[in-house]
Amino acid sequence: MQRIRKAVFPVAGLGTRFLPATKAMPKEMLTVVDRPVIQHVVDEAREAGIEHFIFVTGRNKGVIEDHFDRQFELESTLERRGKKEEMGELEDSLPGAGSTSFTRQQEPLGLGHAVWCARELVGNEPFALLLPDMVMQDEPGCLKQMLDTLESLPEKSNLIAVEECEPELAHRYGIVGIGEEAGNAFKVTDMVEKPAQGTAPSNKFISGRYILQPEIFKILASHETGAGGEIQLTDAMIRLGETQPFYGYHFKGKSFDCGNKIGFLAANVAFALSRPDIAPDFRRALNDLIGDV
Ligand code: G1P
Repeated sequence: MQRIRKAVFPVAGLGTRFLPATKAMPKEMLTVVDRPVIQHVVDEAREAGIEHFIFVTGRNKGVIEDHFDRQFELESTLERRGKKEEMGELEDSLPGAGSTSFTRQQEPLGLGHAVWCARELVGNEPFALLLPDMVMQDEPGCLKQMLDTLESLPEKSNLIAVEECEPELAHRYGIVGIGEEAGNAFKVTDMVEKPAQGTAPSNKFISGRYILQPEIFKILASHETGAGGEIQLTDAMIRLGETQPFYGYHFKGKSFDCGNKIGFLAANVAFALSRPDIAPDFRRALNDLIGDV
């Protein structure tokens, strides 16, 4: 099985659900506790052993590139002031030199198009795809769980993380049909992007983590549009599934859809409660607000 070295992060979305916060700032830079959403997702990829981080960005997203670079002024000020902990924090979260690449999706034509924009940077090898709207809280992280699962699957397998939603919310997501079990995973029999109410093949939705074979790029090159008039990744995966195996993996842990306000707020509460340095005071503050938590 070929090693998964590269991960793609589509970060071109406009963040209209967070206006006015995202008028001049990318939604991926909103913070969950004290690190931007995108940092949580990149950390998940780093933990899984990813070596190259490919960001598909858009206009007004330059600050994401800055976030993953050194900030000399800040570093020298921290050093002068002897702020060792903060310096260590910055150092730990800095990707290695030359391990990030940035390309732009020039028009918002859909997730499939964003992924296709990364084709030259990924090249001819299987890769991970992480949608930064979804922030996972689990130990080990979702992508690490998936890479472990991948080891027991046949060559040229594609693997997508899934979780369950309320059946009446299935129309918001890509939904998979469930086939026979294969170790930790199951065979995907069907995929539908944003199924009409009552037509979903199950209540397991594609939750924003994928391991894909590079042949997906040839299919995406056709630029066929699907649900919502967008170039849909799910439609390209359906076609790839005609020649390559697709598996689903029900990951262990919690996910937060930080693309909407409730998910984002819940992520902040959950991550704050899991931080030993913050949890006791935060719990007290919550108790004052809403009673026993
Ligand atoms: C995208 C995918 C969808 C997936 C969802 C997870 O949809 O197209 O298959 O279930 O992310 O968040 P979007 O949220 O961009 O509409």
